[in-house]
Amino acid sequence: MNAIINDIEIIKAKTTKINEVDFDNLKFGQVFSDHMLECNYKNGAWEVPKVVPYHAITLDPSAKIFHYGQSVFEGMKAYKDANNEVWLFRPLENFKRLNISSKRLAIPELPEAYFMDGLKALLEVDKDWIPNKEGSSLYIRPFVFATGKGFHASPADEYKFIISTAPSGAYFAGKVKVLIEQTYSRSANGGVGYAKAGGNYAGQFYPTQLAVEKGYQQVIWTDDTNHEYIEEAGAMNIFIRINDTLITGPTSDRILDGITRKSIIDLAKSENIPVEVRKISVKEVVEAAKNGSLKEMFGAGTAAVISPIDGFGYQGTDYDLPKLDKTYAEYLKKRITDIQTNKSEDPFGWRY
Ligand code: COI
Repeated sequence: MNAIINDIEIIKAKTTKINEVDFDNLKFGQVFSDHMLECNYKNGAWEVPKVVPYHAITLDPSAKIFHYGQSVFEGMKAYKDANNEVWLFRPLENFKRLNISSKRLAIPELPEAYFMDGLKALLEVDKDWIPNKEGSSLYIRPFVFATGKGFHASPADEYKFIISTAPSGAYFAGKVKVLIEQTYSRSANGGVGYAKAGGNYAGQFYPTQLAVEKGYQQVIWTDDTNHEYIEEAGAMNIFIRINDTLITGPTSDRILDGITRKSIIDLAKSENIPVEVRKISVKEVVEAAKNGSLKEMFGAGTAAVISPIDGFGYQGTDYDLPKLDKTYAEYLKKRITDIQTNKSEDPFGWRY
């Protein structure tokens, strides 16, 4: 697909909200930049996207997003280096995954140029919103949802693709204690677990609320058949270190093909950290906690990058993770964020 960047209309906001933002105390995803990218699907085709002032949208009450949850999203980040150059991390992977998710939800796939050139045009206009403080970035949220009308339970005939952005700080603050889930499931064989479908996340809220009431911050998802194998950590992929080996479950139709996840695997391998991509059972993790070989557990995702887990609960018993001087989590997080923010070489060609 040829570049369309010159065809993208840019309608600038009359005023900017940037002076109202405290860039030294950014929370995650709470304030939004002046502009957004907007693109409509009508009459069987995606229209050329536009950069427009950030605005609320009006939908018909029968829009299918409200009734059937036909929506998918992505999470990405833009970083500014010491020379004020702007970088993305593996953006084509997000584009491809958005379309993989869309396909599963019977949403029409987007042309690559609409996503990539639209994103570039948006970031050019809102460049000043990209923080350059360590630990902060511009969180980018591309999403597609059904705007077409009707109560018939079938795919909509109209959709909207939006990219909005939010200067953001850390996703998690403080300690993360997790509960290994034994009742609810995040995803099932043949289901939508591999897609970034909005409903996958909504379905987590209630079990997570129950875990929070018990004093945990997040849920560790296990397989839907017997709750025997560890699958994901809250809204993130999960890594478990037993002795010196880093283990994560294989992707499947139940597990999201996380971009941070696969970057960690490649990075760890290149640093000669032993990595195993294999099923890991709850029993193995509990045994390892009991015999002292469980060294670390951490979540991995775009928003939190790497989020160390301090301890976990399972069947009424709490297990603490050891306090190590040097952790894989800290080391790999620094390696990955140094690549993302252009503080180090990028041997993998991930920076964009
Ligand atoms: C991300 O890590 O960007 C995600 O998509 C998780 C999200 C629910 C914050």
